Amino acid sequence: MSRTFISRRTMLKGGLGLSLSAALPLSPLLAQISEPNTALVAKPARVALAGEPHPETVVWSYNGQVPGPEIRIRQGDRLTFTVTNRLGEVTTVHSHGIRMPHAMDGVPHVTQKPIAPGETFTYDFDVPDAGTYWYHPHTNSAEQIERGLAGPLIIEEREAIEVDRDMTWVLDDWRLSADAAVAGGFGNAMDAGMAGRLGNTVTINGKVPETFEVRSGERIRLRLINTANARIFGLDFGTLRPRIIAYDGQPVPPHEPQSGLVILGPAMRKDIIIDMVGEPDQSVPIIDRFYPSQAYRLINVVYLDKPPLRTRPLTSSIHLPANTMPEPDIERAERHDVEFGGGMMGGMSGGMMDGGMMGRMMNGGKMWTINGVAFDGPAMAPLLTLALGRSHIMTLRNKTAWYHPIHLHGHSFRVIARNGKTTRYREWQDTVLIPPRESVDIAFVADNPGDWMFHCHIAEHLASGMMGIVRVT
Ligand code: C2O
Ligand code: CU
Repeated sequence: MSRTFISRRTMLKGGLGLSLSAALPLSPLLAQISEPNTALVAKPARVALAGEPHPETVVWSYNGQVPGPEIRIRQGDRLTFTVTNRLGEVTTVHSHGIRMPHAMDGVPHVTQKPIAPGETFTYDFDVPDAGTYWYHPHTNSAEQIERGLAGPLIIEEREAIEVDRDMTWVLDDWRLSADAAVAGGFGNAMDAGMAGRLGNTVTINGKVPETFEVRSGERIRLRLINTANARIFGLDFGTLRPRIIAYDGQPVPPHEPQSGLVILGPAMRKDIIIDMVGEPDQSVPIIDRFYPSQAYRLINVVYLDKPPLRTRPLTSSIHLPANTMPEPDIERAERHDVEFGGGMMGGMSGGMMDGGMMGRMMNGGKMWTINGVAFDGPAMAPLLTLALGRSHIMTLRNKTAWYHPIHLHGHSFRVIARNGKTTRYREWQDTVLIPPRESVDIAFVADNPGDWMFHCHIAEHLASGMMGIVRVT
């Protein structure tokens, strides 16, 4: 088992036989911006993604770095940032998961005019909730996010829990060619109709990771953010025994992962607490086992050979204070049914029968549907219209053979049931991973007026139809 896909798996034809066993110290520190006024410049850059001896990779970056700078402010503060476009095509920035006014949501032609090359746009809004979020473009996402446009957005609690280190790991997955360049073929039919664009190189904070050094006795809060187009992570922390304290930025009663794995579909976040109770010099691998036949070592956690920071782990509470979402009234909620259809291999249903899969693929590349309709542009009629201020329950049914991480803009929702069975934590999320042929019930108060995007966050799926508009009015 090796630490990257490249060195283990047969890659794309002509793909790089990178041997990423070269020792690469992970630099876990992200450049950070915490002034109230932040300037992001979207532009091409060269970065040492794969590390020695591989050449640098040309990426699309915010401020020359991948991931973009970590924006970090406090709950209740106002976030103001400008975005200047130095790319060769239009862009926008969506602050994923933040409940903000519609005009600031960064969706082209729905909430704003896209930012043309050479132009600057100012995003300016209050942040109501603490948590781990991220920002990314909402234009040509399958290419722009894959090329590197994504960054962490951290909203700190007003009253912090006690930790020794608060760290962010941006997990990304790249498909690189033999010269370590980002491979082309964005949104091709095979990727679009199946799992999305899976890569051959996994990075943490823009580097192929080697080791993460910790001190015996310390307590670390790790904010995990999956910015990959399509890869789902299922992290096995072995003896490190993480406790999950937040899903998608929203507090949850602290608990160990139910399946033993910390699972992150595209766009999802999890905050975990690890009390480092190992001995100096010990080393613990973190294994990604989401795709069991393709398990690989993500990184080694190495205890420094130093006296422990403390002899007993901290016992202070790791329970985060609640955020500000209104509580849905389950008894009186309006109910809505949503079906996801399409895709290859047994996924042809509903709208996809119309003209046959190949016909649809050639006919504008639409392969996926929501309630039988493939997204065809922002002028489309809304998929659902929800009464403002009311509680709603949506039953989301995945009728396909593939996983879909489904995201609703402008709101967080409680995941109240899976396959009809009540969930243990009724967790708040903004992106919910639905396994093939399964269903999920979500509940929330539609308290934010506007036309909100509702889509699968596998970039190749949203680009080929799995998107719609939920109107709150
Ligand atoms: Cu991460 Cu429509 O967004
Ligand atoms: Cu999908």
